[in-house]
Amino acid sequence: MEFSDQLACDAGAAAAAIDDILRVNQSPAQRLRDAMIYATKSGGKRLRAALVLGAARLSDDAGDQSGALRVAVALEMLHAYSLVHDDLPAMDDAATRRSKPSCHLAFDEATAILAGDALQTMAFDILADGRTHSDPAVQIRLVAALAGASGLAGMAGGQMLDLQAETRQLDLTEVTEMQSMKTGALIQCAAICGGIVGGADARLLDALGTFSRDLGLAFQIADDLLDYDGDAATLGKPAGQDAERGKGSFVSLMGAEQARVTAHRLIDDALAVLTPWPQAGYLEYLATFAIARNS
Ligand code: IPE
Ligand code: IPE
Ligand code: MG
Ligand code: MG
Ligand code: MG
Repeated sequence: MEFSDQLACDAGAAAAAIDDILRVNQSPAQRLRDAMIYATKSGGKRLRAALVLGAARLSDDAGDQSGALRVAVALEMLHAYSLVHDDLPAMDDAATRRSKPSCHLAFDEATAILAGDALQTMAFDILADGRTHSDPAVQIRLVAALAGASGLAGMAGGQMLDLQAETRQLDLTEVTEMQSMKTGALIQCAAICGGIVGGADARLLDALGTFSRDLGLAFQIADDLLDYDGDAATLGKPAGQDAERGKGSFVSLMGAEQARVTAHRLIDDALAVLTPWPQAGYLEYLATFAIARNS
């Protein structure tokens, strides 16, 4: 199978699995469930899901992918929550997401906040479940990895720095830290959790961590470049918002060309880490895709 077909296949499998899990989770709070379905359904590149599945396949006992698919769902739910909250008026105040009205406009702000909250907790619920992995020690490793990547030291902390970057000039070290936290951490977590659920040994887990750290940072630089020179129709979300809000980024600090060079260098570094693994072609494709995409 071509790697691009594999990505489409993984994205489809993740979308179907998200749908299945949300449908079996019944609740009298139907409106909240609808908002969660809205925020996770259709659209999205599903890169984090693909990284989970790709890393799991590369690992030793990755014959059965059903556990890895549940981990992929958890990562996509956590990511969807971060997007719903990121678009809120108190944060980026973005009207569109994945070519549809943002969750708070399709529903309302309070519902969007709750949908983010409930997607986040559902992600952890999925990881701490015997259907994800039969060994509770593995469940705990997955939970701890996602918690670390999502909270103070990861996504939420990075989002705090991102908001502060609207009013305070950051230097390159600070911007690198902010981007690695707000976006890199969760992308890195996807690859690591794929390795954990697939039973990767310590050497492969270490390589997956280094590979995806560089990939995660490059991914956010590419996002900033798309905000700078992409168009809203292709992106499915607003363009030009970072400059409008005076947000510090690689692009604002070093200019688009240097930012592009930096992203390519990071991906070259990421690819070099995987050379001892000849089966890593799909992960390498995902790394290249992360900066070659147009949405
Ligand atoms: C957008 O992420 C937000 C960032 C973390 C940069 P994606 O570009 O992966 O968004 P989807 O999931 O494809 O919509
Ligand atoms: C968002 O970064 C990172 C998240 C943790 C959600 P951006 O604010 O640049 O993401 P987009 O451009 O709105 O997707
Ligand atoms: Mg933002
Ligand atoms: Mg945003
Ligand atoms: Mg952006």
